[in-house]
Amino acid sequence: MSVTDFLRAKTEGRKLSMVTCYDYTFARLLSQSAIDAILIGDSAAMVMHGHSSTINAELELMRYHTAAVARGAGEKFLVADMPFLSFRKGVSAALDTAHQLMRAGAHAVKLEGVDGHDDVIEAMTQSGIPVMGHLGLQPQSVHAYGGYKVQGRSEEQAKEILRQARLLQHAGAFAVVLECIPVCLAKEITQELAIPTIGIGAGPHCDGQILVLQDMLGMNLDFQPKFVRTFSQTGRGVIDALDQYNTAVKQGSFPSREESYN
Ligand code: KIV
Repeated sequence: MSVTDFLRAKTEGRKLSMVTCYDYTFARLLSQSAIDAILIGDSAAMVMHGHSSTINAELELMRYHTAAVARGAGEKFLVADMPFLSFRKGVSAALDTAHQLMRAGAHAVKLEGVDGHDDVIEAMTQSGIPVMGHLGLQPQSVHAYGGYKVQGRSEEQAKEILRQARLLQHAGAFAVVLECIPVCLAKEITQELAIPTIGIGAGPHCDGQILVLQDMLGMNLDFQPKFVRTFSQTGRGVIDALDQYNTAVKQGSFPSREESYN
């Protein structure tokens, strides 16, 4: 997979599948799956470190997780999230951040929004950095929204998001994540853009879909957003396995003779 395959998939009408990943073990498993591409999301701050938002995903943390995934992901295409504000401090700071993420193993970077930093995106893409956009609900702006809310419900908001999508494409983005927007708006943007749209909570008409790996594996037992489908009950499976191990240790049935050295 490469940036050109993203565009080819759209022209050929092939859907794209993406999930997040933050560590080597899961990256090894993903490398053996048919998933098209992996996002080292800034959601690492929440999923792996227990923070309440993605704002805590600093560059050092993103580099660390990107490098771990890159060691296990084989030939998979890797996109790494640019940290909050790292693309709002001018072209030079953005290039430096993207450089570090790509040196850690990313093939492309993702950043949220476009207004006020379309020139930065243009400079990045002209410098050979593939950029994936992210519109609709932008989790790094959670405090500006006053919570995680569906975006683009009003006609005015929907027009704004469509305008931003056009601007992103014009700035050179090779794909755009659409998060938590109504189905009809995602459909309109997908039909209008030449670059692929990757949806999360944006309905079935996007060119591809992305989910947080731990969510789609059923590992988040505390909270399940409406748009998540759990394709496995891994969380329950882990708890069951731990309880079986606990019982085996306490009953003395583990380790057996076969599991011991003479
Ligand atoms: O960081 C992340 O997990 C993301 C996805 C929600 C697209 O940006």
